[in-house]
Amino acid sequence: MFRKILILFLAGCIVAACRIGFTPSEREIISRSDSVMYVTTIWADSAVLRTPSLDLSPSELKSPEFQVLVSKMMTTVLSPEQDGVGIAAPQVGINRRLAIVWREDKSGQPFEVYANVRIDSLWGEMTHGPEGCLSVPPYRGLVPRYPNVIVSYTDTSTLLCRRDTVRGYSAIIFQHECDHLDGRLYIDRADTVFYNDAWAREREQFDYSRPSWMK
Ligand code: NI
Repeated sequence: MFRKILILFLAGCIVAACRIGFTPSEREIISRSDSVMYVTTIWADSAVLRTPSLDLSPSELKSPEFQVLVSKMMTTVLSPEQDGVGIAAPQVGINRRLAIVWREDKSGQPFEVYANVRIDSLWGEMTHGPEGCLSVPPYRGLVPRYPNVIVSYTDTSTLLCRRDTVRGYSAIIFQHECDHLDGRLYIDRADTVFYNDAWAREREQFDYSRPSWMK
């Protein structure tokens, strides 16, 4: 009996140990990507975009890989060729609950990093607003969203759980990014989706092809 318990305990430890840290393919994406990362699209990468993401552990949040991932995701969302208002980790090929959100509602309007982010509650009258997604080029849609949300997330400095009440445009960005982390896209919610000529023309100027080392 004791031996069985010991074997089960050791097996549990091995499984837990395997879950600590980024996977080899996640590490490869983090280390080999340029500072502007390849952004996954619904046309080429629907598997990663449709997979719900896993939380990041405290040790993963404190790892050098995490710092590099955040820095590259930030450079990517701010780059002229993407120029987004938010980005979620599945959009760079990594199924982890991590997003960068433009806090249009805060003074200085910073882009901020949210790990293990979730929507706790939504309220107010839903309105339809125009929305696009770096992973669904070159389309836009009219999407019903709530004007207010409460989000919870892990503070990446203190590792403490935090909550924030967000209103207006940033509340919509949080809804869009948390959808990504659940494997959903705005086109699942949109009433209308339309082709965006201006965005299509912009994309002709940049190379959006997937790097050869990425599977
Ligand atoms: Ni998006």
